[in-house]
Amino acid sequence: MRLSLRFVLPLMLVLAGIAWAVAPLVDRLTLSWFVRDLDARSSLLASAMQEPLQEQLAAGKKAKIMEFFNRITRDERLFAIGYCAAPTGTALATRSLPAEIRCAELERWERPRNHLLPSDQGPLHVSVQPMVSEAAPAGRLVLVQDMSFVTRRSEETKQYLFYLFMGLAAVVSLITVIIAQLSWRGWIAGMRALLHGEGLLRQPGSGAAPNLPGFKPIARDLQRLIRELESDARARDEDQITWTPESLRAILRGELRGEDVIVVSNREPYVHQRRGDRIEVQRPASGLVTALEPIMRACSGTWIAHGSGSADRDVVDKHDRVAVPPEKPAYRIRRVWLSAEEEAGYYYGFANEGLWPLCHIAHVRPTFRSGDWTQYVAVNRKFAKAVASEAKTKNPIVLVQDYHFALLPNMIHEELPNATVITFWHIPWPNPESFAICPWRDEVLAGLLGSSILGFHTQFHCNNFVDTVDRFLEARVDRESFTVSFGGKLTAVRRYPISIAWPPEAEMVQKSVPDCRSSVRRLSDLPPEHKLGVGVDRLDYTKGIVERFRAIERLLELNPEWVGRFTFVQVAAPTRAGIEEYQHHEAQVRAMATRINGRFARRGPPPIVLKVEHHEPRDVYEYFRAADVCFVSSLHDGMNLVAKEFVAARDDERGVLILSQFTGAARELPEAVIVNPYDADQCAAALHLALTMPADEQRDRMRLMRGLVAEFNVFRWAGRMLLDAASMRRRDRLIVKTGRGET
Ligand code: G6P
Repeated sequence: MRLSLRFVLPLMLVLAGIAWAVAPLVDRLTLSWFVRDLDARSSLLASAMQEPLQEQLAAGKKAKIMEFFNRITRDERLFAIGYCAAPTGTALATRSLPAEIRCAELERWERPRNHLLPSDQGPLHVSVQPMVSEAAPAGRLVLVQDMSFVTRRSEETKQYLFYLFMGLAAVVSLITVIIAQLSWRGWIAGMRALLHGEGLLRQPGSGAAPNLPGFKPIARDLQRLIRELESDARARDEDQITWTPESLRAILRGELRGEDVIVVSNREPYVHQRRGDRIEVQRPASGLVTALEPIMRACSGTWIAHGSGSADRDVVDKHDRVAVPPEKPAYRIRRVWLSAEEEAGYYYGFANEGLWPLCHIAHVRPTFRSGDWTQYVAVNRKFAKAVASEAKTKNPIVLVQDYHFALLPNMIHEELPNATVITFWHIPWPNPESFAICPWRDEVLAGLLGSSILGFHTQFHCNNFVDTVDRFLEARVDRESFTVSFGGKLTAVRRYPISIAWPPEAEMVQKSVPDCRSSVRRLSDLPPEHKLGVGVDRLDYTKGIVERFRAIERLLELNPEWVGRFTFVQVAAPTRAGIEEYQHHEAQVRAMATRINGRFARRGPPPIVLKVEHHEPRDVYEYFRAADVCFVSSLHDGMNLVAKEFVAARDDERGVLILSQFTGAARELPEAVIVNPYDADQCAAALHLALTMPADEQRDRMRLMRGLVAEFNVFRWAGRMLLDAASMRRRDRLIVKTGRGET
C-alpha cells in the first residue's frame, strides 16, 4: 500500500501538470475553430440578408431596416448588426453595436485573424461583409456575434481535460501498481532466495525454489558484496576485540541477544567416578573438552553429553542435570544415558572403529558394521531429543561437536527448524577417495549439511569436505563463498582453528618453573640437571607415540652423549580401551619403552618413563613447565592442543616444541621445530637440536608462539563462530522482515 501511494501520487501530479500545460493550447485551437465557424456563419447571414436589405435600402426605409435588424438580433448568438453605406457615413445599427466599431475604421475588422473584440460579457466576433447595392455601392454590413459561449466551453474543455488526465493517471497507476506488485513479489522471492543462497544455488528441477536466471548476476554481486562487508566487519571486529571470557559474554548479550547456548558432545567435561565410598571428579583428556570448557564457563548454558562416569547418576537432579564446575558452578551438564549396547555400537563401533580411522591417515583400517550404524543413528536421535527438551526457545544456538554426531545437525533441524546449528569437526576430513569407503557416506554428509555453519581447523579440511560433497551428493557447491546448498538448506563451510584459554588458569602456572623442574625430576628419580623431554597424549595410535620412541632410540644411537643424561616422560591417558586396535597399540608402546630402556638404561636413568594413567590438567602443566623439550609427533591430527598448552605453560619463555608437520597446529606455530614423525633420523636430529638450543633462541621462538596463542585464543575461536552465527541470524530476520513488510 505504501509502495502504491509512493508511486501513484507523483504520477497523478505529473499528469495534472501536463493537463494544466495542455489546456491553453487546446483553448487556442478550439477558438480558432469557432472563429472559422462564425466567419462562415456571418457570410451565410450576409448573403441571406442581402436581398431584403437591398430592397429596403432602395426604398430608403430606415425604420424598416432597423426593425429588420432588431428582429434578426433576437437570435441569441447575433449580438449586433450595423450597416455602413459609405466609409465616412454613420452606421445604421442596432443599439447593441459596440462603440469601438465605426464606419471609418472598418478595415481594422477586415484583416485576417482580427475578428475578436473583448467585452464585459465575453469576446465578440466582428465580421464585415460587403453589401453592394445601387443606392450604396460601397455599403458594408457589420455582423457582431456573441462568443461568450467560447469561454464557457473553454472552461468545460479544461474540466474535461482534467478529468481525462486524472482518469488516465488512475488507469496507468493501476496497471503500474499491479505490475509493480507482481514483480516486487518476484523480487522479494528472488532476494530471499538470493540471500539464502537458495534458488540461485539449487539445481533446476530440484523441486523447491524457482531458479531465477535473471537474478544470477545481481545475486553473485550482492553475495560478494555481503561477504566482503561481512568479512571486513568481522576482521575489524576481531582485531578490535581483546578476546576474553568477558568479550565472549558481550557478544552473546549483544549480537545474540542473550540467546541460550547449547553444546553437544559425546565426552562430558566433568566425569564423576566412584572410588570406594568417595566420588571423585575427573577432567577427561580431550582436546575438545580443553577448548570448550572455558567457553561454557564464560557463556553459561547447557552442555549435553554422555554420562559415562561410574557416579554420574548419583549427582544429577531429576532432569539429569548437574551444575559445574563443582567448586564454582557456571553452567550445567545435561547427561544422556546410554545402554552398553548403544555405547558399543555408537561410540566404540561406528565413531571410533569407523569414522576415527577413516578420517586419520594412520594406516589403521576402518571397520564398518551395520549394527553399529543402527546404534549410531539411534543415539544421534536420542541426543536430538535431548537438545529439543533443553532448548528454552524455538531458535537456540546449538554447538554440535565432532564425529560422534554427524547426523545430529539434520535431526536438530527437524526438531527445531529455526535453531542455528554450528557443527565443529575436531578431527581431519579425508579426501573423497578415502571417505568413499564409508558405506553410509551419503547419510553422514547429508546429516552434517543440516548445520548452518560447519567448521574445521584448516582450510585443507574444508576443501576436502566440499570436494567430498561435490563428488557424492546432488548438492550445489559454491567455492567462492564456500557454501553448500543441499535439500533447501545452506551450510557455510568455514575454517576456525581451535585454541586454548589465554591466559591459562592461574592455578596452572602457580607453581614456579624451578619448583616444577625439581619436583618432577625428584618424582621420577632423575638428577636435578637431567635433561627432560615430555609427551602428553591419549594412548592413541594417531599420536605417533611409537614413532616418537623410535626417534628417541635413534637419538641415543646417533648422539650417545645423551644416554643417561636425557629422559623422556610419556604421559599417556588410557583411551577407548574396549577397542582391540587400542589394546594392541598400548601393548606395542609398553613393549617398545621396555625394549629401549633395556637397551640404554644401564648407564643411569632410563631414557623413557611411561606413565599410562589419567593426569589432571594441573599435573600436566607441571610436566610442561619442568621440561626442556615437548615432543608432539602425531601422524595426523586436526589441531593438537597439547602443543598450544605447552606454549601457554611456558611463561618463562624457555623450552622447545618439536611438532609434527601433520598437525593443524604446525600451520600456526612455525617457530616450533617442525618434523616428519615417520622420519626417525630427522626427529632424532630435532631432539638433539632442541636439547642444545641456546636460551635466547628458545626465548625468541617461544615468544612468537606465545604471542600467537594469546592472540588467537579459544575465546576468539568461539567468538568468530558466534559472530558468524549472529550475522546469519540477522540476515534471516531481515529476510523475514522484508518479506512481511512489503508483500
Ligand atoms: C579427540 C576427539 C574428541 C574426543 C577426544 C578424547 O580429541 O576429537 O571428540 O573427546 O579425542 O577421546 P574420547 O574417546 O576419550 O572422548
